[in-house]
Amino acid sequence: MATARRARALLFLGLALLSCVVHGEVFGPHRTGARPRRVLADDTNSNVFDVTKFGAKPNDDQAENFEPFVRAWRAACNATVPSTYLIPKGTFFVAQLIFQGPCSNPVTVQIQGTLKALTDISEYTSEEWIMFEIIDGLTVTGGGTLDGQGFANWQYNDCKKNSKCQLLPHSIKFNKVNNSAVYGLTSLNSMSFHVFITGCNNITAYNLNISAPSNSPNTDGIHISSSSLVNITNSTIATGDDCISIGQGNTNISVSKIVCGPGHGISVGSLGKYEDEKNVSGIYVKNCTLLNTTNGARIKTWPASPPLEASNIIFEDLIMYMVKNPVIIDQKYGSHKHDQPSKVKISEVHFRNIRGSTTSEVAVNFACSSAVPCEGIEVANIYLTFNGTTKASLPPSLTSSCLNANATFGGKLNPPACP
Ligand SMILES: *[C@@H]1O[C@H](CO)[C@@H](O)[C@H](O)[C@H]1NC(C)=O
Ligand SMILES: *[C@@H]1O[C@H](CO)[C@@H](O)[C@H](O)[C@H]1NC(C)=O
Ligand SMILES: *[C@@H]1O[C@H](CO)[C@@H](O)[C@H](O)[C@H]1NC(C)=O
Ligand SMILES: *[C@@H]1O[C@H](CO)[C@@H](O)[C@H](O)[C@H]1NC(C)=O
Ligand SMILES: *[C@@H]1O[C@H](CO)[C@@H](O)[C@H](O)[C@H]1NC(C)=O
Ligand SMILES: *[C@@H]1O[C@H](CO)[C@@H](O)[C@H](O)[C@H]1NC(C)=O
Ligand SMILES: *[C@@H]1O[C@H](CO)[C@@H](O)[C@H](O)[C@H]1NC(C)=O
Ligand SMILES: *[C@@H]1O[C@H](CO)[C@@H](O)[C@H](O)[C@H]1NC(C)=O
Ligand SMILES: *[C@@H]1O[C@H](CO)[C@@H](O)[C@H](O)[C@H]1NC(C)=O
Ligand SMILES: *[C@@H]1O[C@H](CO)[C@@H](O)[C@H](O)[C@H]1NC(C)=O
Ligand SMILES: *[C@@H]1O[C@H](CO)[C@@H](O)[C@H](O)[C@H]1NC(C)=O
Ligand SMILES: *[C@@H]1O[C@H](CO)[C@@H](O)[C@H](O)[C@H]1NC(C)=O
Repeated sequence: MATARRARALLFLGLALLSCVVHGEVFGPHRTGARPRRVLADDTNSNVFDVTKFGAKPNDDQAENFEPFVRAWRAACNATVPSTYLIPKGTFFVAQLIFQGPCSNPVTVQIQGTLKALTDISEYTSEEWIMFEIIDGLTVTGGGTLDGQGFANWQYNDCKKNSKCQLLPHSIKFNKVNNSAVYGLTSLNSMSFHVFITGCNNITAYNLNISAPSNSPNTDGIHISSSSLVNITNSTIATGDDCISIGQGNTNISVSKIVCGPGHGISVGSLGKYEDEKNVSGIYVKNCTLLNTTNGARIKTWPASPPLEASNIIFEDLIMYMVKNPVIIDQKYGSHKHDQPSKVKISEVHFRNIRGSTTSEVAVNFACSSAVPCEGIEVANIYLTFNGTTKASLPPSLTSSCLNANATFGGKLNPPACP
């Protein structure tokens, strides 16, 4: 069964790739008379493509839902008018689903029910469970839930000690998607990242509820790379890795009104692990609350990295409670080659108006690269109290640490500026 499903997944990929070409030829501007058929849509007057009308069966963990989901997508994506792809209430078990465009018109994907990922990892031929790609004008919403059922597979994420480790699928990936939005959904227990946005322009994500246990490995809430004009707002993220991680190649990314915790905080990075990475600039993190996280506002880069730049980064109006490393730049992130400095140049970074509590003494920690020291680091109005365990009778004084960093401090400060 697993093999058969996989074969179909590959077949679909092949057809889908082919469809880009076919699509342009058959339905492009040169053949104005051509009208796409609505494959199996029972109500030809409707622009709603309901997966159950194409044969998908809710509440049946043995159901063959893959083909119905694909047929409904082909019909919705090719519709002559803006269409709705409907996953109604109920629980649908599905393995890998790749929703590929380009589509003839904008598509709204309404996920009202729950999608549950099949736990047999051999069902997945690449690193995503649900992927939308090469689409302009996509909306994904509906109030439903994506349940990655990560419990069954987190044990295989042993990449820290096993270089041939199994890479687990991300729950929902947007690849080369423009002018689009995802909102009003819950993501539970993703096997790897919950939401992965890559190669996208102008995408907004809001009203998301993202949840996985604090010890689940590599379950970043939202990871963004190679994208511009991404707006993440008004969401709750509790997970086992970064709530939001802003990787290489991003410009003009805004993150606001996020409640994060447990988790590893809101991070720019990690940067510089691979050779072909692109610069990062224009990152704006504002009005977020971090509760019981290992990091608050973080920038992390790998040692022994190729040259790269990360600049114009603002973290402001943040509330943090019981955060271990509230403000941190870590240029020795990752486990290897600590003897060679990172060559990621970090500049024009502002940490403003941050208050709350920390569980460690070094609450502001800039550990910049000896090869390319940090420049233009500003700290203003960071006021934190200690709320951790201590053997001493009085709470320890908080401190700031600046290594290879020329930081300016201003406003009301605790910890005080670097010595
Ligand atoms: C759109 O319709 C054409 C012709 O039927 C088909 O080849 C193509 O695969 C369809 N596109 C999608 C995304 O289903
Ligand atoms: C998305 O925008 C980029 C940059 O403008 C463009 O190159 C790409 O073709 C667009 N993709 C789609 C699917 O519209
Ligand atoms: C961004 O995408 C939205 C649709 O989600 C659209 O309304 C808006 O005009 C786009 N903005 C830009 C700058 O293209
Ligand atoms: C998010 O989902 C989790 C798990 O279903 C739930 O416990 C929590 O109440 C939800 N949070 C919000 C803000 O809806
Ligand atoms: C992000 O999106 C929200 C909701 O649509 C909007 O209120 C906010 O202004 C946007 N932020 C930016 C920086 O575009
Ligand atoms: C923001 O999210 C909360 C739930 O956490 C919701 O009640 C509220 O309506 C959302 N705000 C907007 C503007 O969508
Ligand atoms: C990012 O924003 C800046 C300033 O608002 C603007 O000049 C620039 O064109 C934007 N870049 C992209 C890729 O949208
Ligand atoms: C990063 O930015 C610098 C300065 O603008 C530029 O010289 C360099 O080529 C950029 N590197 C990459 C990989 O884009
Ligand atoms: C955003 O700021 C408002 C006003 O200060 C505050 O009430 C709200 O709690 C903040 N939201 C988050 C997620 O930090
Ligand atoms: C903080 O998070 C840890 C898991 O990382 C959890 O065990 C602990 O109960 C949480 N503490 C509070 C006060 O929420
Ligand atoms: C201090 O930590 C305790 C739990 O360890 C928590 O209940 C309390 O709310 C925290 N107070 C602050 C100001 O962080
Ligand atoms: C540190 O920065 C200040 C102002 O940004 C500048 O005047 C000073 O020369 C810098 N010092 C070093 C050692 O770079």
